[in-house]
Amino acid sequence: MKNKLEAIRKYASQKIEEAMNLNDLNDIRVNFLGKKGELTQVLRGMKDLSKEERPVIGQIANEIRDSIEKRIEDAKTVIAKKAREIQIQQEVIDVTLPSKKPALGHQHPMSIVLDDIKSIFMGMGYQIAEGPEVEKDYYNFEALNIPENHPAKDEQDTFYISKDIVLRTQTSPVQVRIMEQQKPPIRIIAPGRVYRSDEVDATHSPVFNQLEGLVIDKNITMADLKGALAVFASELYGDNVKVRFRPHHFPFTEPSAEMDISCFKCNGKGCSFCKGEGWIEILGCGMVHPRVLEMSGIDPTIYSGFAFGMGIERIAMLRYGIDDIRLFYENDMRFLKQF
Ligand code: DAH
Repeated sequence: MKNKLEAIRKYASQKIEEAMNLNDLNDIRVNFLGKKGELTQVLRGMKDLSKEERPVIGQIANEIRDSIEKRIEDAKTVIAKKAREIQIQQEVIDVTLPSKKPALGHQHPMSIVLDDIKSIFMGMGYQIAEGPEVEKDYYNFEALNIPENHPAKDEQDTFYISKDIVLRTQTSPVQVRIMEQQKPPIRIIAPGRVYRSDEVDATHSPVFNQLEGLVIDKNITMADLKGALAVFASELYGDNVKVRFRPHHFPFTEPSAEMDISCFKCNGKGCSFCKGEGWIEILGCGMVHPRVLEMSGIDPTIYSGFAFGMGIERIAMLRYGIDDIRLFYENDMRFLKQF
């Protein structure tokens, strides 16, 4: 019996050594130590042994069981460690590899142009002002000296919220709000969205953007207006650009003018871009009407000022040679990626 036990011990050690994985070890445990295992079978035969032999053999059998168990446990640890080492090797990260570049977006062409315009005027000491897009009829029309029968007030041109409230059709109402709130000297620009009941086409949109300017102080003249806007034009379109002022009419300025710049494509000679004119209209301007000053609480016998307004889309279209305003709003990546 003793020999049998020794044979089992030897055989079990050999099997354990050969085991490749945890499953093999489990099988070995069942085959040797399980209910029907080889060692168990031998122990069953103990009842046939003599009284003297029994404890001796019993002790040996227990030792063998303990040693097989311990060897199985040790082998498990070794196998698990090996598996972990292989896993770590396979998962190794090369921290020296260059990282993937994240896809960064960039500014919309309208924002690029607006930021440029803002920084030109801020460089001349202007502050940025804001006003509401849902505006009182009073600020959008009446306080700007726009008479009751003016076509801009027609329902076909303006979105009315109620009789007294409109979606502002221009940024000019910000002039009035600022003059009511601030004492001169005033030097502001006011960019923002405006709304007109226009049919969408290549040059019209019911929502678009304007930028208003207002300067009020003592002794402000048309010369100041021309000087400031000429600097603006050359900063935005280049030193070679000339400006000219054509008489015009706006209800809130007197005198009023439209400013053209010499065509920056043909240098004023006339080309398809400027439709043979040599000049391109870019904004409206004028000396603030005394009645507008008065209605806003500023004494026109002491103060004077100038104002101007431009469409940002138009400025951006001119700068980039874009011929359809809808491109700004459609968010087509093929368009946006070009800026
Ligand atoms: N608000 C005018 C428009 O929408 C633009 C304008 C013209 C604004 C002359 C001014 C200005 O401040 O002086 O057509």
